[in-house]
Amino acid sequence: MAKASPRYICQACGQVAPKWSGKCDACGEWNSFAQEAAESVAAPQNSLGSAKGGRVIPLVPLDGETTPAPRILTGISELDRVAGGGLVPGSAILLGGDPGIGKSTLVLQLLASLAKRHQRAIYVSGEEGVEQVRMRGLRLGLSEAPVELAAETSLRDILATLEAGPAPAILAIDSVQTLWSDLIEAAPGTVSQVRAAALDLIRYAKRRGVCLILVGHVTKDGQIAGPRVLEHMVDAVFYFEGERGHQFRILRGVKNRFGATDEIGVFEMTDKGLAEVPNPSALFLGPRDQRTAGAAVFAGMEGTRPILVEIQALVAQAAYGAARRAVVGWDAGRLAMILAVLDARAALEISGNDVYLNVAGGMRIQEPAADLAAAGALVSSFLGTPIAPDCILFGEIRLSGAIRPVSHAEARVKEAAKLGFRTVIGPPMPSGQKSALPLTPVATVTDLLTVLRS
Ligand code: TYD
Ligand code: MG
Repeated sequence: MAKASPRYICQACGQVAPKWSGKCDACGEWNSFAQEAAESVAAPQNSLGSAKGGRVIPLVPLDGETTPAPRILTGISELDRVAGGGLVPGSAILLGGDPGIGKSTLVLQLLASLAKRHQRAIYVSGEEGVEQVRMRGLRLGLSEAPVELAAETSLRDILATLEAGPAPAILAIDSVQTLWSDLIEAAPGTVSQVRAAALDLIRYAKRRGVCLILVGHVTKDGQIAGPRVLEHMVDAVFYFEGERGHQFRILRGVKNRFGATDEIGVFEMTDKGLAEVPNPSALFLGPRDQRTAGAAVFAGMEGTRPILVEIQALVAQAAYGAARRAVVGWDAGRLAMILAVLDARAALEISGNDVYLNVAGGMRIQEPAADLAAAGALVSSFLGTPIAPDCILFGEIRLSGAIRPVSHAEARVKEAAKLGFRTVIGPPMPSGQKSALPLTPVATVTDLLTVLRS
């Protein structure tokens, strides 16, 4: 076979290029290309030649007998929720997240929980020694759990060990970037290595009905392959996220072949590990006894679950030059749009000011339904008039300044009522839906101003 010529692979997204370049065209990452030997694949002679010796596979209709995937309940219900009602045997999950966010802690708690339920659980750590993992187990109060442990990075040895015993119910590899296969001529952590290791482990998991958890670091540093290259190979991708300095952690499904992806699991990092937060609304709301200008409570939805979060804004006169903008937990483009709409449609001269917007508790909001609450917080800070602390807001703002109804209005209000809120500012309820709380309807941003000024 001809010697494979070198090629360059973007370590962030897996883009392959014949020549090195400073910037990856596919993902825009700088200085992310690394040289790796090409995987040698014997090319088929021609299209007819490749059909020779192949097996004829039966083609079946779309309509037929199906059985729902069996599920393993983990005992951690926030995780089960994100997985779509429990883990599926024979499936592979990629658990991504920034270093230090708590991935290893979550995985160890998960394995211990399953091991205590008499499921065989294997934890292979490539980053920490056995001692370190044991110490974490001790700190978490999980030393009693019969988790089987190994500190190993050689893929060949890991697979040999797995084949030697009965298949576990769950296998966690922490992290996939540390694995190393001697069949691949590339350094550990490169795209080729990570891909090859993941492929072999996924094959093993599918064949033996093992639930495989691959932990992967998300990093901007081009040295380590981002787990994004694995996303298409696995059945589910969960991201573990949170703001540094906040104790809240959110497990978010971004891909799931066995469930919906809009569910989140909420955890709190304590000195005894991750604790589940079954009622997250209370957590993202500050103390609600004071009237402060610039705070508005948004009644959001995360999947099927309503979550109330406080949006805080500060509008201050710009010192000189261009106005400053800083956003935490929300989209900066969306903020610019809301400011422009307030200027143009409500004749508010707000966008020349310095504007700071923060979503409390380290939560990240993606719904457009948060527009009205954000606008409320901005206007409240700008005018110096507080919004009643027992009031919630939701609604999507159009470029025209009109406020659009949003989905699940009834459920949002119901959650707010449960938590002691008394009034709602939002678009009129869609016909057939009733608001559990008195609603002040607003049809445009001008209406919002009128309401807040009154
Ligand atoms: P870790 O699970 O090691 O993160 P990752 O695997 O994502 O890199 O967790 C790291 C942080 O979590 C660490 O800074 C300390 C904190 N932590 C606690 O606050 N309480 C605990 O009980 C544990 C085990 C960790
Ligand atoms: Mg770790």
